[in-house]
Amino acid sequence: MPIIMLDNDTDFDGWRKAARRLALNDVTPSDVTWTVRNEAELFSAEGVNALPDAPHATFNVSAIFVELAKAAILHRKDDRFALLYRLLWRLRSHHDLLSATTDPDVAEVNAMARAVYRDIDRIHAQLRFREIGREQKAHYVAWFEPEHHIVEAAAPFFASRFADMPWSILTPDVSAHWDGHAISITSGVDKSEVPTEDRLEDTWRRHYSGIFNPDSGIFNPARLKLMEMPQAYWRNLPEDSIIKPLLEDAMRMTGGAFANKTVEPRKLERQQDTPMVRRDAHDTIAALREEAADCRACPLWKDATQIVFGEGPQTASIMLVGEQPGDKEDLAGKPFVGPAGEMLNRALEEAGIARTKVYVTNAVKHFKFVPRGKIRLHQKPATPEIRACRQWYERELAAIQPELVVALGATAAQSVFGKITPVNKNRGRLIEHDGTKVLVTVHPSYLLRLPDEDAKALEYQRFVDDLKIAGSLLRRSAHAA
Ligand code: URA
Repeated sequence: MPIIMLDNDTDFDGWRKAARRLALNDVTPSDVTWTVRNEAELFSAEGVNALPDAPHATFNVSAIFVELAKAAILHRKDDRFALLYRLLWRLRSHHDLLSATTDPDVAEVNAMARAVYRDIDRIHAQLRFREIGREQKAHYVAWFEPEHHIVEAAAPFFASRFADMPWSILTPDVSAHWDGHAISITSGVDKSEVPTEDRLEDTWRRHYSGIFNPDSGIFNPARLKLMEMPQAYWRNLPEDSIIKPLLEDAMRMTGGAFANKTVEPRKLERQQDTPMVRRDAHDTIAALREEAADCRACPLWKDATQIVFGEGPQTASIMLVGEQPGDKEDLAGKPFVGPAGEMLNRALEEAGIARTKVYVTNAVKHFKFVPRGKIRLHQKPATPEIRACRQWYERELAAIQPELVVALGATAAQSVFGKITPVNKNRGRLIEHDGTKVLVTVHPSYLLRLPDEDAKALEYQRFVDDLKIAGSLLRRSAHAA
């Protein structure tokens, strides 16, 4: 019975190597014990090394499983390594297993990945650095209590956002440090070891006092993101010490007007991974475009020429969502103006939809590429980039309130549904999602890439047929109006 000892709680590479060797040696999941070093001194670490490697045997799993496993392995549940191996084992004979969302293993791994993503979102949104040291020696420190093992996964976001300041994120499990060049990970610390000195404290205090004080001129409870946060999380914020008294005062002054806006932790737990926030339609697209111009929610802004925001009438009944701007779009600052845009325009016309009447946007609004000489090679956006950018899609959706959203390809579908959504399984039919109809179809670039002319013609026709569903829905509702 092999005992596999992984190097640490987030040792995905170790898990993958061991799982591959175990599977190639036909070791059934119930025969494997998974553990993490330092909990397991009593056990032999021989485990997987005792099994023969099979360097020539192949073992492929889908990129979706790898992505899911990378997230789920960060969950705090002890049996996560065993669950992932069981899934991998089952995937060998049941390739479609991940689509069986009611399967208990699949449901569990999805829920675990969602909880991890939620925790990463939480640290990104809530972490506050305190400044310690002075002038040349300034260092920024933040304390956080994550629910899962997410510090390493969350740290690159802070490295790109606060690239010029040396910082440390201290947690009970591990600590992450940025020295301006690289992230390093050390062991966790006790809260009592966290420095409390804070030059920024006064700034926070003033900021929050203003929000809570109706006489301040900037009183605006809607700006108080804390109100959307479970109270249990407030303790991580440096402004915690002032929140409760300020909140009580504000409630007294407003007759408790926002008392019922607080969200209890349990309620938040039941929400989706990335709950759709349908805001009031008071944002205009022009205002959103202006606000988004400074977006730094992911690192893609650094190399892109500019943000490529959505375009089209605010009254549009159809909203088309693509993947991300390409080279031409990045230079022009407009979506779908390159070769994929030409293909899209032709298909829309054949489907009886005027492009000028639809709102066209992308799931990710900065161009992601790698330079190859003079060429900039398109790179598919990763999940953190899609998730970081989703706020803009949500706000565009709230502003436009279209009758139908058309998701062009997998990245768009992931953004629209807030989770990975296979295109082929969902394409060509109207799906209700959060009160909006959604149609999933392929991305026009997929058609451009097909090498075989017959296949291209066939697939193009299927694409037009999908768009015709959108066209006829529009005509029906125009007729009914
Ligand atoms: N591909 C997209 O998804 N969007 C664009 O704007 C251009 C190409």
